[in-house]
Amino acid sequence: MIRRFYIVTMGCQMNEYDSDNLSQLLINSGFISTDNHENADLIMINTCTVRAKAQQKAFSLLGRMISLKKRRPDLILGLMGCIAQQESMGLLKKFPELDLILGTREIGRVPQLLDRIMNKNEKIVATDLSIKRISPVRHDGYFKGRVKGYISIMEGCNNFCSYCIVPYVRGREVSRSSKEIIKEARSLVSQGIKEITLLGQNVNSYSSAEREDVNFPMLLRMLSSLDGLIRIRFTTSHPKDLSDDLISCFKELSDLCPHIHLPFQSGSDRILKMMNRGYTREQYIDLITKLRNIRPDFAITSDVIVGFPGESENDFQMTLDLIKKIEFDNLFSFKYSDRKGTLSEKMDRKIDEDEKSSRLLILQSIQKGITLKRNKNYIGQVEEVLVEGDSKKGDQLTGRTITNKIVNFYCNIKMIGSLVKVIIKRAFINSLQGTFIKGQQDTILT
Ligand code: SAH
Ligand code: SF4
Ligand code: F3S
Repeated sequence: MIRRFYIVTMGCQMNEYDSDNLSQLLINSGFISTDNHENADLIMINTCTVRAKAQQKAFSLLGRMISLKKRRPDLILGLMGCIAQQESMGLLKKFPELDLILGTREIGRVPQLLDRIMNKNEKIVATDLSIKRISPVRHDGYFKGRVKGYISIMEGCNNFCSYCIVPYVRGREVSRSSKEIIKEARSLVSQGIKEITLLGQNVNSYSSAEREDVNFPMLLRMLSSLDGLIRIRFTTSHPKDLSDDLISCFKELSDLCPHIHLPFQSGSDRILKMMNRGYTREQYIDLITKLRNIRPDFAITSDVIVGFPGESENDFQMTLDLIKKIEFDNLFSFKYSDRKGTLSEKMDRKIDEDEKSSRLLILQSIQKGITLKRNKNYIGQVEEVLVEGDSKKGDQLTGRTITNKIVNFYCNIKMIGSLVKVIIKRAFINSLQGTFIKGQQDTILT
């Protein structure tokens, strides 16, 4: 009997990577993937709990899937990812319709667990965080047709920023062996992947104890020598681990893209301390200066939180001031959200929702102007674009510059997976519009 699976992925790239890993495992166990949840035999919801909103979104989707399960009791319904890890057994009490609650380090056990669910009618809660996750299982050919891929190189977090749930749902930092990572990179490249993003909650604190200890800059140098890999990126970095050696990799390795996602969270030293971030505003600015000294168009994106408990108008102004000084290419901004069990949950002087919303609006409108200004700097420039596929509207091709800006351009040759030259004509908030430079086909790498 053919069994179909359907996975919904919410949250960050780590969840996307985990969902891909689960898909490959299921395909290897004889399942086939379906795009239609109505005809799936197995539905897995991969969840995020970083903010209350993410959690609400997951539960509302779960509600809809539970109605489907009521109509089709033979459907296997599972919840995985960070909510599953956090709530564990409690979820089964709240939602007895669930068959499987799968923690963030338990994916490798899915085939055995499904066997027990299908053959013994069990309900399973598997949320052990102390186990070392087994190596991801590959299905050769799974990535065919894709241009970009992820590799998780470390997971977990030891930083315990006072507002953050991630250390509780992803466990302590564990790095994979460099050998295994290189093997996975080779497998992706052999399937046509041209760009790899290395993933980790604190990717730059990668450190693997092998015959010779391998740190993050060493790993980048190893990957950079792989034939067929055109671009390397990594995310997310923590400012406290951005060493001079890592910064010099951007000078040294031509396939390492000059873009970094470096969350700063607040522009006020007082708040940074309360957040337990481990750096000051000045130290953060110094890092950006070093990166922009390598090349002035080095793309910097970041995360910021407004309305942390006790954030005064002055603290907020310091954040706005930092944003204006640095001029980020893009900024992901969030209203502080209380998470159960974190240190800041117990802090007093919580900021009310209306105030948080108004601060967020002010910040976002300033950033919009900055993003547009930085994008406009590209007008008239010739950019190398790695073509990823059809644009959202479907009438153009889309790809990204080395600095991770989306570029849409008209071209009648399908060059997916190629590196092409495009002259930038117009700039918007979320993308650039360019013209394919004819006669450049000889520079196309395939
Ligand atoms: N590991 C990454 C990102 C983790 S979560 C890092 O350290 O940068 C992604 C972003 O969500 C964070 O950078 C932060 O800006 C935001 N975030 C995390 N917890 C939050 C909370 N409780 N309320 C609001 N935003 C939060
Ligand atoms: Fe969360 Fe801080 Fe760890 Fe990032 S570094 S995952 S914000 S605790
Ligand atoms: Fe969310 Fe978990 Fe990622 S809480 S941000 S899916 S690590």
